[in-house]
Amino acid sequence: MMAFEQRTKAYQAYIQRYLDAYIAQWETEPQQKLFSAMRYSLLAGGKRLRPIFTFEFCRLCCGEWEKAAPLAAAVEMIHTYSLIHDDLPCMDNDDFRRGRLTNHKVFGEAIAVLAGDALLTDAFSIAAGAEIPGMDMARVIGTLAGCAGSLGMVGGQVLDMLSEERECTEQEILDVQSRKTGALINAACAMGVLAGQGSEEQLQAACGFAGLLGLAFQIRDDVLDVIGNAADLGKATGMDEGKNTFVRLYGLEKCQTLVQEYTEKAVGLLDVFADTAYIRHLAKAMTCRNT
Ligand code: IPE
Ligand code: IPE
Ligand code: MG
Ligand code: MG
Ligand code: MG
Repeated sequence: MMAFEQRTKAYQAYIQRYLDAYIAQWETEPQQKLFSAMRYSLLAGGKRLRPIFTFEFCRLCCGEWEKAAPLAAAVEMIHTYSLIHDDLPCMDNDDFRRGRLTNHKVFGEAIAVLAGDALLTDAFSIAAGAEIPGMDMARVIGTLAGCAGSLGMVGGQVLDMLSEERECTEQEILDVQSRKTGALINAACAMGVLAGQGSEEQLQAACGFAGLLGLAFQIRDDVLDVIGNAADLGKATGMDEGKNTFVRLYGLEKCQTLVQEYTEKAVGLLDVFADTAYIRHLAKAMTCRNT
């Protein structure tokens, strides 16, 4: 147990310092309002799950996990941008995120949009600067772009929006959620394997794990929208009433069973790695998370 918490803290502290240093280096630039807005959301907290996956899969492939920091930072920056835009009045119109006012509430919509744009774009610049001898950088960048873009997270956000107020089948909801949430988790895990230069078999396993865990994660997010506590979550609850979530389709109880089932299936794919106690523990802890 202690080892689990220690490793989680080490990963979180490392990514926090890395992101902090990234923004701090631009303090003599004139566009300080932009950097303040980027810093505001990026360093506000957050569980840092995606960087943790990048670090851990790199370690599971016997890579030096610290070297994967640029890739971990890139996926967290893209995730943060997706949250800033997701909260905008034209999208979910949310006032709270990561325990504070949403970006547009503090900086205005124009700067919030641009802070998101900058986080997205700078993410690729940071990832491209990773120095890992032997790593297939083109594949890393292609993976991250593919997961973030029109076929991945952005595509999922569009499907999510267009499916509001309409009955959806289970397959449609699975498709939306795999894209809007699963895709970036997939990028995080895949980049960890690529950084650690794992085998193709390990890459496939990591992607399979990420897909299933991403579904479990979003279903738990939807459950928490109903039963969660806004102060613990750092964001408002009860926001998804008109949305096509699994909670609407199946109700709360079945959803929690699904969270467990998807997580068990995800963890079942990890046998191609040794030393999986940490990641198994993490996946299990995520099924009953309250934050
Ligand atoms: C929230 O993600 C948005 C979803 C994809 C469900 P997280 O729950 O990982 O948010 P942070 O990063 O901890 O704030
Ligand atoms: C958002 O899903 C997923 C993203 C790609 C940002 P939600 O809209 O359910 O996320 P929260 O609940 O606002 O964090
Ligand atoms: Mg949304
Ligand atoms: Mg939202
Ligand atoms: Mg949600």
